[in-house]
Amino acid sequence: MRVHGFVRPPGDKSLTHRALIFGALARGRSEIRGALTSADTRTTARVVRQLGASAGPLRAGSTVTVTGAPWRAPRDTLHCGNSGTTARLMLGALAGHAFACRLTGDASLRRRPMRRVTEPLVRMGAGVTARGDGLPLTIRGGALRGIDYRSPVASAQIKSAILLAALTGGVRVTVHEPRRSRDHTERLLQHLGLRVEITGATVGFDGTARRAIDGFAMTVPGDPSSAAFLVGAAVLAEGGELVIENVGVNPTRSGFLEVLRRMGAAVDRCGERDVGGEPVADLLVRPAAALRGADVSPEEVPSLIDEIPLLAALAARASGETRFRDVGELRVKESDRLGLLARNLRSLRVDAEVQGDDLVVRGASVPPRGRVETGGDHRIAMAFAVLGTVPGAAVELAETDSVGISYPGFFDDLAAIRDG
Ligand code: S3P
Repeated sequence: MRVHGFVRPPGDKSLTHRALIFGALARGRSEIRGALTSADTRTTARVVRQLGASAGPLRAGSTVTVTGAPWRAPRDTLHCGNSGTTARLMLGALAGHAFACRLTGDASLRRRPMRRVTEPLVRMGAGVTARGDGLPLTIRGGALRGIDYRSPVASAQIKSAILLAALTGGVRVTVHEPRRSRDHTERLLQHLGLRVEITGATVGFDGTARRAIDGFAMTVPGDPSSAAFLVGAAVLAEGGELVIENVGVNPTRSGFLEVLRRMGAAVDRCGERDVGGEPVADLLVRPAAALRGADVSPEEVPSLIDEIPLLAALAARASGETRFRDVGELRVKESDRLGLLARNLRSLRVDAEVQGDDLVVRGASVPPRGRVETGGDHRIAMAFAVLGTVPGAAVELAETDSVGISYPGFFDDLAAIRDG
């Protein structure tokens, strides 16, 4: 296909979750422009409403209003749907509240590890009752103590849960990560006038200083993780060029652009600007003449963790080998992405395998043809839909509803950028 025109990706999912949670904790009214309106962010809005805040409705294109209120024990279980960010960030925010509350999720979320978050929260003084490592579980918050925590995984969800516990519990925390994960929570705290100390991959936050935050206004930029699929479609196109407007280019999120450059796909950033403490740019993407394999190092994985499905799909069209090193975390995302990527690529006649915690893809020039099991995972569905745009491809997706988790308009946008 050829691509053309301008397209705007939906609002950033990570930032929308955070804006809704902070808005629900704030005194008074907050206004969120550009919020993502998708299944996952509607889940967070519903959960904060159960706790007494008013939020929404979340309608595409309109500003979302959130009015904070002192949180009270919910009557029912908090159902976090498919959203790991909702579950893990809410656990942190609930740790400083003196009531008990039960959380659960859909079958995918119930399989995902929660102890990585509850373990530091329990050390801070929260009570947690769970049968295994996952949901459902009950958290009883209350008086907390500070923590100096060394996280075994680079995870913004763990770090953010601890920062939210510090805010709601009024304690001081320090979180050390093996590598720096996305820093949206830190930036948002700073945007709200709170002091955060950042040294390398260590973040310090003193919640004793100011427990309450005031209502705020915020503009959410476009989601780089959603934009990545449009970038991928343009890189694989046979001609034309595409402008993707209003994309967040926070360095803790934009590692995929650097990998694409090494693979031979140049993406220009135009009009870089700051939107509410987050860097934003328009991306100009042209088809790549020839893609080559790349080596993705463990150091850069946190900055592109959600883009690996898309990068693996592009690697399937590159000459030579692409190796994603140390990506075991993919096993505990919305699906076992490590296993599913390798299996689906092989179903499409691409040489791919899992070696320990590495994913290895050797590109092919035969058109991808076959059936893809998405595992109900939005990013697997979108990555393979992009691969399905190459000439001669016949990629059948087992389902497409999952795109509604993060990008309900994905197939419309993919059709709209197609020229002719
Ligand atoms: C997210 C952090 C990442 C990412 C997820 C969203 C966030 O998860 O994969 O899609 O908003 O904090 P981890 O923190 O578990 O790596």
